[in-house]
Amino acid sequence: MTDADGGPVRHIPVLLKEVLEALAPAPGKLILDGTFGAGGYTSAILAAGADVIALDRDPTAIAAGQAMVATHSGHLTLVQSQFSQLADQAPAGGLDGVVLDIGVSSMQLDEAERGFSFSKTGPLDMRMSASGVSAADVVNRAKLADLIRIFVLLGEEKQAPRIAHAIEKRRAEAPFVTTRDLAGLIEVVTPRKAKDKIHPATRVFQALRIFVNDELGELAQALFAAERALKPGGRLVVVTFHSLEDRIVKKFFSDRSGRAAGSRHMPMVQERAATFDAIGKAVISASDAEAEINPRARSAKLRAGLRTSAPAEAADLSIFDLPNLASLGKLGG
Ligand SMILES: C[S@@+](CC[C@H](N)C(=O)[O-])C[C@H]1O[C@@H](n2cnc3c(N)ncnc32)[C@H](O)[C@@H]1O
Repeated sequence: MTDADGGPVRHIPVLLKEVLEALAPAPGKLILDGTFGAGGYTSAILAAGADVIALDRDPTAIAAGQAMVATHSGHLTLVQSQFSQLADQAPAGGLDGVVLDIGVSSMQLDEAERGFSFSKTGPLDMRMSASGVSAADVVNRAKLADLIRIFVLLGEEKQAPRIAHAIEKRRAEAPFVTTRDLAGLIEVVTPRKAKDKIHPATRVFQALRIFVNDELGELAQALFAAERALKPGGRLVVVTFHSLEDRIVKKFFSDRSGRAAGSRHMPMVQERAATFDAIGKAVISASDAEAEINPRARSAKLRAGLRTSAPAEAADLSIFDLPNLASLGKLGG
C-alpha cells in the first residue's frame, strides 16, 4: 500500500488530541512514550515543548526513529526496550507522564515479511522484537489442547476446537510456513458468512500475536512499572484496541483508586491509599469523525490516571485475572 506521494502508508496516531489533553505535555516536563511506533505521539509531545524518552521493542521502529532523534537533539532519547521495563529508563526524580498505545503499528501490518497480516503472504512470524518463539513455532508445535486454549482465551474464537483439529491434521502432512497458508486453512474450515464483519482468520491471528509477544503480561507489568516511575502529579495514559487489554487497564485503575477493597483471594474490606486519581471521564472513545477517517480508531479506548503521592503497591498479577496459560507445553528449542 502506498499513500498519495507513492510512499508507504503512514501510521495515523489514534486519539491524539485526547491523549495530549490527558497527558498535558509542557516545557520542563519529561514524558515516556512506551510505544514509539512511527513517532506520532512522540512528535506531538515534543512539539508541546516536553522532553521524551521513547521505547519500542521493534528494532525496525528504533532504526526509523533515528532521524527524529537527530532533529530533536537533546530532547528525545530512543531506546529499544519492552515497555514492561520502562522503570529502568526513568530518572531518579521520576517521570511527569507515561503514554502507551498498545498493539501493532500500520508499518508492522504493512510489511508482509513481519507475518502479522493474513491478507499478505509472509512468513508466519509475528514477533515484534524479531526474536523468541514465532507464530509458526506455536502453530506447528503446540499441543492440540494448548492451541484450543490460545484461540479461546486470547482470540475469543468460538470455532477454536474445529480450527485446532484442522491445524493438527494439516501440519502432520506439511508444517505451516506462511501467513496465507494458515489463513487459507481457516477460510476453508470456517468459511465467511455474508453477515460476518471480519475475516475468519482475524481472531486466530490476534490470539497468536498476543501469545507470541506476551502482550497481556507486558501491559500488566508496564502499568505496575509506571506506578513506580511516575512522580506525584504524573499522568498515565493508555490507549487499547480490544477488550482483553482494556479490561486490564480498567482493573488496574479500579484497584489503584483505593475504592476496590480486598481481592478474590483476600475478600476482607480495607481502606487503601489511592495511587491514582481519575483524570476526566473513565473511558474515552474516538469521535465519529475520527472513526470515519481512521478505521483503527473505532475500537480504541483511552483511560488515564493522575499519580498520587501514595507509595507504589505490590506488583500482584492476580488483580488482573489474566488468562491462565502457565501450564502450556514448552515450545522453545
Ligand atoms: C500502535 S503502535 C504505536 C504508534 C505510535 N503511538 C505513533 O503515534 O506512531 C505500537 C508500537 O508499540 C510497540 N510495542 C508493542 N508492544 C510493545 C512492548 N511490549 N514494548 C515496547 N514496544 C511495544 C510496537 O512495536 C509498535 O511499534
